[in-house]
Amino acid sequence: MSHKLTKLLSGKHAVVTGGLGFIGSNLVHALIDIGAYVTVIDSLDPRSGGDIANIQGVEDKVDLVSADICEFESVASVVQNASHVFHCAAHTSHPYSMRDPQLDVSVNCIGTLNVLESVRRLRPNAKMVYVGTSTQIGPMTSSPITESHRVAPVDIYSANKAAAEYYCKIYANAHDIDVNVVRLPNVYGPRANIKSPDFGFINYFIGLALNGQSLTIYGDGLQLRSVLYVKDAIEALILASCSKTTGEVWFAANENSISVNELARSIVAACGSGEIVNVEWPDDRKRIDVGDIVIDCSKIGGDLDWSPKVSLEDGLRNTVKYWESVTQ
Ligand SMILES: NC(=O)c1ccc[n+]([C@@H]2O[C@H](COP(=O)([O-])OP(=O)(O)OC[C@H]3O[C@@H](n4cnc5c(N)ncnc54)[C@H](O)[C@@H]3O)[C@@H](O)[C@H]2O)c1
Repeated sequence: MSHKLTKLLSGKHAVVTGGLGFIGSNLVHALIDIGAYVTVIDSLDPRSGGDIANIQGVEDKVDLVSADICEFESVASVVQNASHVFHCAAHTSHPYSMRDPQLDVSVNCIGTLNVLESVRRLRPNAKMVYVGTSTQIGPMTSSPITESHRVAPVDIYSANKAAAEYYCKIYANAHDIDVNVVRLPNVYGPRANIKSPDFGFINYFIGLALNGQSLTIYGDGLQLRSVLYVKDAIEALILASCSKTTGEVWFAANENSISVNELARSIVAACGSGEIVNVEWPDDRKRIDVGDIVIDCSKIGGDLDWSPKVSLEDGLRNTVKYWESVTQ
């Protein structure tokens, strides 16, 4: 992590909800690296991408609270000493949210309200960051999209993520809570769940390619996606947690979108195995697909001096190296 980020959070008390998950655990490693004290609250929900192995190497430095964010008292107990709260715990699967919408509401909406309420009641001066998703906006009506694009999600997960983002803005406005939102696109990199198609397709494709299996693309594969290496995502979250603004929303993404076909070809090349197969869209997946995603990131560039630094080629190379090192 850069010297700039070290100066921002060294010696601070950070809480990471969902700190055993993909993004949360990469954040935990980065925060410890820059000298922050870290508390994680995570229920290690088997329906999510979390894994205790994700904090391997830093487990002695992490205060791990195994609890559910749907229980207010548990969240309050970890937030009470925090200077910075990164809310990464969530149910993150689009298809799963369609199968079990009530569960998605409880974690993504009630869970987020529990974090906001804990901050309001116990730590009103803490700085909080909420991790949103680019799919909250639904299909693009203009390209590229900015933060002012309409919000019209097409699946339950994205709708609940959008609702939770509204809660954050309401707490910033009505209660002066210092909370900002970073909306992420498809994030890939070390420590992701690469075994299940229920989570981000890039990480799943990496898992398939590493095992020499077929990467199944729905439709013609020409749909554009914005992708981001996890280290760049973490930098955006840390910068957002130190911003002087409140109630702000930023997209942190790669402005150069890439087709799913091209992405699959890059993954196969980086892994040195795997083959690509195009199949018909399953009806249930087509109905909740947002189509092309192209994102303008000038707002976060101007406000936080953030831009992605890791190329797709380097990001995939690092990811493959990581999986080779943990499976040896
Ligand atoms: N991965 C992406 O590409 C992506 C893209 C956009 C936004 N996001 C957002 O980033 C955040 C983190 O996503 P991720 O990819 O790391 O997901 P993940 O599934 O890997 O991690 C989520 C973590 O939350 C924990 N969790 C789930 N329910 C919980 C509960 N009730 N109580 C306590 N802990 C619970 C899980 O055990 C897991 O460790 C989420 O808010 C997600 O919406 C992710």
